[in-house]
Amino acid sequence: MLKRILVSLALSTAAAFAVTPARMIERRGATNVFPNPPTTITLSSPITVKAGQSFTPPQAYTRYERGYGACRDGEGGQADAVFVLEEGATLNAVVIGKNQMEGQCTINHVYFEDVCEDAITIKQSSGVSYINYGGAKGASDKIVQHNGGGKVVINSFYAENFGKVYRSCGNCKTQFKRSVEINDSWAVSGSTLVGINTNFGDTATIRRQKALNVRTICQKFIGNNLGNEPTNNGSGPDNISCLYNNFDVTS
Ligand SMILES: *[C@@H]1O[C@H](CO)[C@@H](O)[C@H](O)[C@H]1NC(C)=O
Ligand SMILES: *[C@@H]1O[C@H](CO)[C@@H](O)[C@H](O)[C@H]1NC(C)=O
Ligand SMILES: *[C@@H]1O[C@H](CO)[C@@H](O)[C@H](O)[C@H]1NC(C)=O
Repeated sequence: MLKRILVSLALSTAAAFAVTPARMIERRGATNVFPNPPTTITLSSPITVKAGQSFTPPQAYTRYERGYGACRDGEGGQADAVFVLEEGATLNAVVIGKNQMEGQCTINHVYFEDVCEDAITIKQSSGVSYINYGGAKGASDKIVQHNGGGKVVINSFYAENFGKVYRSCGNCKTQFKRSVEINDSWAVSGSTLVGINTNFGDTATIRRQKALNVRTICQKFIGNNLGNEPTNNGSGPDNISCLYNNFDVTS
């Protein structure tokens, strides 16, 4: 019931917020100041943002959550997602726990206050998804889990206390050559900024990154499609897979 109300609100506001031209975003640094949600809405099922639609809450930075226990069993997948974004959907100005991107989508100013396992799962088969501004704290595992194909562009995003900010799936059944571009972002206290699979031709491009207390900036793995734990294949800039120079990363 709640869900239906929210979705119809979303659709009626969609016209006022035309799909954000992701490529024209303003370049700026990431912020570590998370918004203070004016209100919290607990959902009994995820909100689906339909193909090509945009969702902006009536009150900017409304907190959406799935209530107690949604995180309990670790990687819950779509069942305990908060938003499910279909192809070409855009999500703006919310504070949430978990998210799932089914197609090429854009999320702008989305803050994850306390990630359970993975904050954002990307399932597009190809194309580009954008994560602009916003931030995530407390992701014991990954913030962005890229299981589909194509590219993910992350701009001006803040990450704190994380396992990995981005990981190209190391052992999905269907593997792809994936790429990630991170610009103007800021990472504090984590294990790995990006993890990619060299054997599938992945690339990571990193520019104007701030990193403090982050062990590895670009970790290379040899992935598989058998569900096995991927093996390490070194780390650091190489002009082949990890496309940055040490001067692109400052504290
Ligand atoms: C991000 O950085 C890459 C590599 O420098 C660049 O090609 C791309 O245009 C940048 N995107 C934005 C939105 O700044
Ligand atoms: C491991 O990394 C090296 C150096 O980047 C690369 O030449 C090699 O192809 C990688 N191995 C695999 C199996 O991806
Ligand atoms: C990558 O190539 C550029 C241009 O040739 C060079 O200046 C830079 O030092 C190289 N970086 C690494 C990590 O090899």
